Amino acid sequence: MNIDVVEREAFERLSKVSSAEELEQFRVEFLGKKGKITSLMKNLKNLPPEERPTYGKRVNELREKVEALFREKKKQIEELMEKEKMERMRIDVTIPGARRKVGHSHPVAKIMEEIERIFVAMGFDVVEGPEIETTWYNFDALNTPEWHPARDEHDSFYITDDLLLRTHTSPVQVRTMLERKPPIAIISPGKVYRRDYDATHLPMFHQVEGLHVDKDLSVAHLKFTLEEFARRMFGESAKVRLRPSFFPFTEPSFEVDVYLKGYGWLEILGAGMVDPNVFLSVGYDPEEWTGYAFGMGVERIAMLKYGITDIREFVRNDVRFLSSY
Ligand code: PHE
Repeated sequence: MNIDVVEREAFERLSKVSSAEELEQFRVEFLGKKGKITSLMKNLKNLPPEERPTYGKRVNELREKVEALFREKKKQIEELMEKEKMERMRIDVTIPGARRKVGHSHPVAKIMEEIERIFVAMGFDVVEGPEIETTWYNFDALNTPEWHPARDEHDSFYITDDLLLRTHTSPVQVRTMLERKPPIAIISPGKVYRRDYDATHLPMFHQVEGLHVDKDLSVAHLKFTLEEFARRMFGESAKVRLRPSFFPFTEPSFEVDVYLKGYGWLEILGAGMVDPNVFLSVGYDPEEWTGYAFGMGVERIAMLKYGITDIREFVRNDVRFLSSY
């Protein structure tokens, strides 16, 4: 085969190579052991001796030229592949992100936070107590003796004879008075448990307890605090009414109603002046200290605020309900 023909063919072929596979094919076909340039060299022995040096030199020059071009092409192809790879890996930071659905707090949690905010702004500390409570904290220390109907098994979840799921947040009053010295102003939000289940009662619900102990506190302080709370929670037009009631741990005791335009009077909490017997059970002198306490049902307040009529909605886990508050 003619050197010029192979040369032309090699240049033409190489100029068309555009991938690593094509390049390899080219290498085998022209530069390989059985390649065209190699066979040109093998042809040497068939030539008359005087032609051999010139021929051999030309073939060697051709091989060197082709090899140089081959290396250059190889470099180009490698660079191209690298570029393509970078292109594939490129991150377009300008593409808008996938919009994630962000959840939000449960309506009860929201109301609880709102209650906390209001009382914290009035100077109350937030404290918490255990949900599994001893009968002493839950009842005895709160002037609720053994024979009291609230202690009945049918009303509560007992774990042992003297351990139960707390039936109210009032035991936190006792814990706080034992831990701190007056003056005390705390609220205590949390879960409480009772054997009830209907449109207005859940076996687990939330309360926020309040306790203020200082010298010379009266029902006036209690009423002002609750009025202030009601105004901040429900708006300036909210009014508060105390009705005589009974709790073993307060004397006098009240049911507290809030007046809302469009609703009328609604009961949202129990309250009263701390009973002297409660002070005695925590070692405070009832002659020296006075106090008022209250306990509000958080679900009740959420129902009022949002106009919900069935308390069970809060625990049905229906996203349509939950996401509308
Ligand atoms: N612990 C009472 C209840 O759960 C509410 C209450 C708290 C009443 C504090 C008076 C004082 O019903």
